[in-house]
Amino acid sequence: MNVMVVGGGGREHAIIRKLRENPQIGDIYALPGNGGIAADAFCVNVGATDIDGIVEFVKGHPVDFAVVAPDDPLAMGCVDRLNALGIRCFGPVKDAAIIEASKVFAKDLMKKYGIPTAKYETFTEMDKALAYLEDAPIPTVVKADGLALGKGVIIAETREEAKEAVRSMMEEKKFGASGDQIVIEEFLTGPEVSVLSFTDGKTIVPMVSSQDHKRALDGDQGLNTGGMGTVAPNPYYTPEVAQRCMKEIFLPTMEAMNAEGRTFKGCLYFGLMITEDGPKVIEYNCRFGDPETQVVLPLLESDLFTIMEAVADERLAEVEVKFADKYSCCVVMASGGYPVSYEKGFDLQIGAMDENVDVFVAGAKLEDGALKTSGGRVLGVTAVADSLEQAIADAYANVDKIHFEKAYYRTDIGQRALAAERK
Ligand code: AMP
Ligand code: GLY
Repeated sequence: MNVMVVGGGGREHAIIRKLRENPQIGDIYALPGNGGIAADAFCVNVGATDIDGIVEFVKGHPVDFAVVAPDDPLAMGCVDRLNALGIRCFGPVKDAAIIEASKVFAKDLMKKYGIPTAKYETFTEMDKALAYLEDAPIPTVVKADGLALGKGVIIAETREEAKEAVRSMMEEKKFGASGDQIVIEEFLTGPEVSVLSFTDGKTIVPMVSSQDHKRALDGDQGLNTGGMGTVAPNPYYTPEVAQRCMKEIFLPTMEAMNAEGRTFKGCLYFGLMITEDGPKVIEYNCRFGDPETQVVLPLLESDLFTIMEAVADERLAEVEVKFADKYSCCVVMASGGYPVSYEKGFDLQIGAMDENVDVFVAGAKLEDGALKTSGGRVLGVTAVADSLEQAIADAYANVDKIHFEKAYYRTDIGQRALAAERK
């Protein structure tokens, strides 16, 4: 059984490591993969958004199953194209990936099916959006409709900032066509929880919860990034919250997609905020989160490939999905200056890691057999332990064994979760 994984970041590295635990899997091809993934899979120089290139590769190689991990190829219909060739896939078809690819679609879906989320208005005309902001409650949140590399969300603390956000999206086209439509929504407060789930459209199985750290600097200061670290489980996701989420959010979302003729098969990601009125959806993603995957999959005790095949074949209810009763922490190491401007091409040295620690490489390439940094987020160091405190300590102890020039990482990953646990 040969598997192709589309993507080339830390998330894909974590997926590939987990797939490698299944002895039935022969070759794994990563398109494009990266210098770190090259130790675990054959990296093929085809970009994740080069759908024609991916299709050509599959035609010429013995691929039995595909995992399409990033949002862009999913939104572009990569799974539809592969399915048409008879390749079974883990990941939603284009019509279902819209749950992430269009925020207007996601908001309208939630409104239609009574799924709790922030109140909102959508706009296709800038003048109407600006007029609405004249007496909208402040702070407010302005979101570009389409995919925008996680940067299309602006929390505006003042009316002027909100208007500026609208102009940047609709007039200056800062996010291209993603800003042709926008959502302006109510600002919610409360702790955030990420829940990834496996679903085949008939059954939905939440994975262990996690907490992302999106801001660049300690104390949740600085710019939003692709994620600077994660911990799992998330202490705010209590059994009571989990029960409410299943009843009010997870099952209704799966059923809503079915009712719309957009059955979702793959990993459906719920970005939740636990407000005083209960859990609400901040965003849906049509894929595994990054760097959530780097803490969630190391806790998965069941075989990932067995689950992925069951999702593709719509028999998820028949397989076991079990997580270890442990804790994990992932610290992302970035190149100094990320997410604004940073240098690449530094020598990357990774020492011997402790037995409970994994390094998932995101931005590095091999040059003459040596690893060089090639991205803003370079790698993530994940430790698994019997307590959150120990997982955090072990992750940081191993970060100290990794070296590249201008390495930068947050020093407080997991501290909020730890404080919440102690309450
Ligand atoms: P998103 O890209 O939709 O995940 O948004 C990025 C971040 O913006 C989220 O993780 C939240 O921290 C924040 N955010 C998005 N929507 C809201 C909202 N309605 N109220 C408060 N914060 C929000
Ligand atoms: N970590 C957030 C995301 O993957 O979108």
